[in-house]
Order: sequence, then C-alpha cells, then structure tokens
Amino acid sequence: MQKTDFLVIGSGIAGLTYALKVARYYPEKKVLVMTKAAADETNTKYAQGGVAVVNDLENDSFEKHIEDTLIAGDGLCNRNVVEIVVKEGPDRVRELIEWGARFDKEQDGDYKLGKEGGHSEFRIIHHKDITGWEMERALLDAVARQSNITIVKHCFVIDIITQHHMGYLVTKATPDIECYGVYVLNSNTTQVEKILAKITLLATGGNGQVYRTTTNPSIATGDGIAMVYRAKGRIENMEFIQFHPTALYEPGMKGQAFLITEAVRGDGGILRNKEGEAFMERYDDRKDLAPRDIVARAIDSEMKRTGNEHVWLDCRHFTKEKFVEHFPNIYEKCLSVGIDITRNMIPVTPAAHYSCGGIKTDEWGRSSIKHLFVCGECASTGLHGANRLASNSLLEAMVFAHRCYTDAVNIVHALSFNDAIPDWNAKGTSEPKEMILITQSLKELQLVMSDYVGIVRNDVRLQRALRRLDLLWEETEQLYQNTSISLQLLELRNLISVGYLIVKGAAFRKESRGLHYNTDYPSKSAMVQNIVL
Ligand code: FAD
Ligand code: SIN
Repeated sequence: MQKTDFLVIGSGIAGLTYALKVARYYPEKKVLVMTKAAADETNTKYAQGGVAVVNDLENDSFEKHIEDTLIAGDGLCNRNVVEIVVKEGPDRVRELIEWGARFDKEQDGDYKLGKEGGHSEFRIIHHKDITGWEMERALLDAVARQSNITIVKHCFVIDIITQHHMGYLVTKATPDIECYGVYVLNSNTTQVEKILAKITLLATGGNGQVYRTTTNPSIATGDGIAMVYRAKGRIENMEFIQFHPTALYEPGMKGQAFLITEAVRGDGGILRNKEGEAFMERYDDRKDLAPRDIVARAIDSEMKRTGNEHVWLDCRHFTKEKFVEHFPNIYEKCLSVGIDITRNMIPVTPAAHYSCGGIKTDEWGRSSIKHLFVCGECASTGLHGANRLASNSLLEAMVFAHRCYTDAVNIVHALSFNDAIPDWNAKGTSEPKEMILITQSLKELQLVMSDYVGIVRNDVRLQRALRRLDLLWEETEQLYQNTSISLQLLELRNLISVGYLIVKGAAFRKESRGLHYNTDYPSKSAMVQNIVL
C-alpha cells in the first residue's frame, strides 16, 4: 500500500503537464504518476499536425479561433470553456516551450503555422509531422529533472476507490461520492495494490481501440471513462466519436492505422475518388478543408458509392523538398510501403480517432466525484461539443491541466487519507484457461462497433449493437468474477462499457448533429442538449 498527496493516472500531455506544475509548486511533496505501459506510449506521442493556438495577431485573433471552434462543435460547445481554452492557450504553449519543446520556425524566427480542416487561418504550430513525439519528449525530460515526481510504469489502474469499497451503497443519486485513491494491477508483480491519495487526476486518454481500425495506439481503451461510469460519476456526449478522414489504407488493416495528417491537405493535398474526381467540391464550399465530420462522411459516401475500400490523397503536385520539409515521417512511411508521393497518390480511409465526449467536468476540471480531477482526452469539458476542431485537443489538455493544478494545490491542505479502505479481495478466482475467450470477444466488440456504430448510424443498427454488447458484457462479467484478472480482461471489460456508452448516447440522440449522423433523423433537432449518462 502506498500513500501520496497527488496521484496522477496517465503519462500523456495532460498527466505530465499537471504533475510538473503540482511538483514545482510543492517541491517537498511527492507526486506519483502511474501508467499502464511504457511512459511514452500514449496518444500524445502520435500527434502529428500540431497545436492550434493564436500566435500571429496581425492575421489572426482569439475571436476567429473561438468562432471556428464553435462552428465545428455544431451548437454543443460551452462558449465560456471555448473562450477559456483559446485565450489561456498561448500562455500554456509558452510554458511548454520553456520546458524544452521545439516548434518549427521560419527564417525570421516566427513560428511556422499550418492549417487544418475548419480553421479560417493558419495557426497550427508544429514540429514537422511528429509534434506529439516532441511534446512528449520535452515533458518526460522535464519530469526527469523534477526529483519529487515518480513515474511507475506498467501498472494498470483497475478502479477508483469510493464509499462503495467500504460497503456503502453508491448510486447515481448519491450526493458527495468521494475518491480515496485507486486499486492497481502491478504487471511487474501481478499483485493488486492499493494506493491512497488525497487528490487523484485521471488523464487516461482516448478509446479508439473500441473500433476495428483506429489511429490510436493499443493503450487507448477508455479505462478512465469506464472506471468513472462504474463509480457512478457523470459521463456525457459519448456518441461523438471523431473519425479522422485520412488514415493510410493498407489491405486487411486492423488495430492502429498510420495517420496522414490533415496538415497535408492544409498545404494543398487533394482528395480524389476512384474516377480521379476532386469530389469534396460537391460536398462543401470549404472543399478538402471542411471540418472533419463533413470530410469523413463524404469519403464514406464515395467509398460506398464506388465499392472501393479507400479514396486517394493526391500530393503529386508537391515538390519532394516541400513535402519532406514539413512531413518527413509520412514521406518515409509511404516509401516503406511502396508509395512515392511525388508519383503515386496515397490510399486513405477514415479511422476512429478521437473521443469528443467523456467524463463530465466543470471549468476547473472537477468531475462529479469529489477530489477526482479529470483532463485530456478522457474529459468532456465542453470545448468540443459535437465535433472537435482539429488540433484543439493538445491545447485543451494543457489548459485544463493548469486549471486542475490551480484548484488542487489550494484544496489539498484540507484533505486527509482514508485509512479505512480495505485491500483488494481476490478470493475465489483462478487463472483464465483460455485466452481466446478474451481475444475473440474483443474482435466481436470491434466488429459490432465498426459495422453498426460507425460514421453513419440508424436505429436498427444501434439496437442490434446494444443486444450484442449485452451478451458480450454478460460473458465478460462471468470471466471477471470467476478468473484471476489480467490486463487483457480488464481492458476488454472497459472497452465493452465504453462501447455501451457510445451506443446508449447515440440511441438517445434522435437527430443528426456534428459527428453523430443517424439516417432515421437526418436533421438537427430544435432542442440542443448534452446527453449525460
Ligand atoms: P494520452 O496521451 O493518450 O495518455 C494516456 C495515458 O494514460 C497513457 O500514459 C496511458 O498508459 C495511461 N493510462 C490509460 N489507462 C490507464 C490505466 N487503466 N492505468 C494506468 N494508466 C493508464 N491532437 C491535437 O491537438 N493535435 C494533433 O496534431 C493531434 N494528432 C493526433 C494524431 C494521432 C495519430 C492521434 C492518435 C491523436 C492525435 N491528436 C492530436 C489527439 C491528441 O494526441 C490526444 O487527444 C492527446 O494526446 C491525449 O492526451 P492525454 O494526455 O489525454 O492522453
Ligand atoms: C492531424 O494531424 O490531422 C490530427 C490533428 C488532430 O487530431 O487534432
């Protein structure tokens, strides 16, 4: 058993930014960061395009960035939160640069600015096409210099501890549910440990792995959202799953797909269908740089019309020098699969990319559970509404990590540890005999979600999905109750919960808005509301 004032779950941009701030504020206190894999294996590391932030006040303004975010969010953004993120963003980026992150510059020393779908101006700062890798590197280096932060790797947080674990009945109606820490499966010892904390921050990232093809790495299994749902906390807007329009198509693809950043279209890349037509002109005046929901749906529709498994991204008009200067990683990846972008078009297809909904927070990152803060992709702060504007998520994570820190350091003095928490009870379980029971259920889940709860939905598909998820849940619960737990089983259980929340949110929303498109209700309803589960 361990005790820590500040416990952080997740070592991506959200968790590390918060950990650094808290640790610098209280150099005498220990900050414990737990992560289920290697420290840098995060969605953050794979971010390509960059950070949307207002920089160039001659050509851009906070008002334009706010307006672009609200338009993409299709009526569901919280305007106050949008203003907070856009206006506080530049200070947070400056801090990251002070900690050592490098962004590309022009010869005159100004930052190079990229453009992505839905942005009215060039405002995306980047480090070539590996921005996330650079940010994660800078953060981990800064953490290594901060002696009061400990990162514990390969430890899987199973559940947050609340009054429920002390034998009290906790329901959605229980007022003042409190978080006292977490139970963790230590993959190094295979034991479940108890960590008590005064304040816990969940920064567990996304849930792309609930779909068959995703740009997310294998860690993105929605654990934080599932934990809070089990603990009876509030979850909202889960139906808004963003499909990135342009993942690299590879025959038989499944699991993590390689992303072709939207910045390629920002620099002039053109989407073409099987017939070679630049089809986006038919779908939206903003053509290839329309918001992501529109581009992904247009691609889906072209693929269905032609029967092709992908469309093309045409970059043949770029010079090699121009392309390689901004996108060296994409250039190399394409070459490695036989595509020379100066001669061949790139086959691309949409893939699950980002969860716009998640654990509901207020504007200080406080969840509905006391002493549990949440930030990063697993949070639903109100910024994204029904569709996230490209490159707004790294910015949101930094702004909200700062806000969580501001509140956390002020309340910690008044809090104490709860020493009455029991140890994890693992009695009556045995090793799983057949791993196939877990791996097969995962495949089934991903198929159901991709086939019935993808870019285009309808009521029959959603009902089918729900019935299949019920069965998968029942079978997985039996395994969970009767065998000893493993990482794979815990992730499957969480993914089924996340799938269920997506389907439930989608079934409740009797309209089409932003990323949620239901052919039974093709227009927006007059009632603008978040769906809270
Ligand atoms: P992550 O970076 O995913 O970190 C999650 C952490 O939580 C990991 O350390 C993980 O191990 C840990 N964790 C999870 N569950 C558990 C558990 N049960 N126990 C212990 N630890 C756990 N956004 C932009 O703004 N700009 C971009 O250019 C951009 N490009 C992207 C490109 C790709 C390919 C992808 C996948 C995403 C991109 N995004 C981009 C989105 C952005 O990268 C993510 O939303 C953001 O990095 C999420 O950060 P995070 O800190 O919330 O989570
Ligand atoms: C991209 O680079 O296209 C991804 C940007 C994002 O998801 O915000």
